[in-house]
Amino acid sequence: MKILIIGGGGREHTLAWKLFQSPKVKKIFCAPGNAGTASLGENVSISAEDIPSLLEFAKKNEIDLTIVGPEMPLVAGIVDVFEKAGLRIFGPKKEAAMLEGSKAFCKEVMIKAGVPTAEYVEVTSLDQIESVLEKFDKAAVKADGLAAGKGVLLCNSKEEIKQALQKILGDKAFGSAGNKVVVEEMLEGEEASILGFCDGKNVKIMVSSQDHKRALDNDEGLNTGGMGAYSPAPVVNGLEERIRKEIMQPMLDEMQKRGTPYKGILYAGLMINNSEIKVIEFNSRFGDPEAQCVLPKLKTDLVEVIEACIDGNLDKIDLQWKKESACCVVLASGGYPEAYEKGEIIEGLENAKAFENVIVFHAGTKLDGEKVLTSGGRVLGVVGLGSDIKSAIDTAYTGVSQINFNKMHFRTDIGKRALER
Ligand code: AMP
Ligand code: GLY
Repeated sequence: MKILIIGGGGREHTLAWKLFQSPKVKKIFCAPGNAGTASLGENVSISAEDIPSLLEFAKKNEIDLTIVGPEMPLVAGIVDVFEKAGLRIFGPKKEAAMLEGSKAFCKEVMIKAGVPTAEYVEVTSLDQIESVLEKFDKAAVKADGLAAGKGVLLCNSKEEIKQALQKILGDKAFGSAGNKVVVEEMLEGEEASILGFCDGKNVKIMVSSQDHKRALDNDEGLNTGGMGAYSPAPVVNGLEERIRKEIMQPMLDEMQKRGTPYKGILYAGLMINNSEIKVIEFNSRFGDPEAQCVLPKLKTDLVEVIEACIDGNLDKIDLQWKKESACCVVLASGGYPEAYEKGEIIEGLENAKAFENVIVFHAGTKLDGEKVLTSGGRVLGVVGLGSDIKSAIDTAYTGVSQINFNKMHFRTDIGKRALER
């Protein structure tokens, strides 16, 4: 098979790495890819958002299966466009991807499906501020649409809520993504992610994981796309079946009832407080860097799983997982998530890869002759695998210690929470 992966981050290198192991796969293209995907296949210099050019490429190169990494093309309807052209593609159609594309829509579906989530109100005008402040002392204030992971403001006072609404609705800080705002009750607990393969009717959940969103150790600093992850997340232990039955399956049932069945990856961001589980959000794709911890543990051929999702017979698949733990440490450019330099030379990649149980996934990297240069905020994800979480963490940081580039920045406490349990 010829496969086209859309995207160019750590998640997409991980997908390419896993798909490369399938005997069914003859060739992998990645658009636009990075230096990591270039070592497994061929990069195509088309942006992940340029749907017409991606379609043309897929037709011309007789791609058998396209796999979409990021949310933007999904929400823009790439799956609808490819399917209309008779091409096989993995991901939710536009109306189903709205679970990530609109937080207000997602809330409405959750309520209908009886899925536990934070209390909320929808706000479209600054005139509503007073009624919002009557209801909440603290709140998560969220731009409705896609805002590259930056659209959530956590407010610890009425004054902060007011400022957040002003920023989103008044100053249009997130453009039209903020035409509508979801204001919700602040949840307490520990976060974890559960991802599921979905075929429209059935869902098979993956092993759990936990992301580290803040830039600095001890969860300080700005929110990022994710600075590291580990799997499994002990906070989820024993709750998996409840999450499948009370959260994932009801969402699929509700989407099917609406005539917009959900096929693809459904990602639940959860807040767990003792045995109480609430959904913070759903995403319509693999998490990044969660994928880097989860996919290396999947024993089953990923092509078989994806084909079963597309064909609607996921119930025939027996997902098999390695028992190991995994830890992924993200190496970022100095300054990320704010302004940072690109073009720094990355050293030590071969040394890191030489360690058993270390996998180095590329994110913002590019090739320059023999050299590998930084080309984004999150540059690499160094994964360690081990028989328990401690050895996975130690292995990941052993890999990290081999790598260097000017102003390289990473967290030193990935997985600490799991160790503390
Ligand atoms: P989201 O983009 O919805 O994942 O939100 C980004 C981050 O904000 C989440 O990972 C949580 O850490 C935090 N967050 C979002 N909603 C809430 C909430 N209702 N209560 C507490 N924290 C939240
Ligand atoms: N790591 C969080 C996300 O992929 O949305």
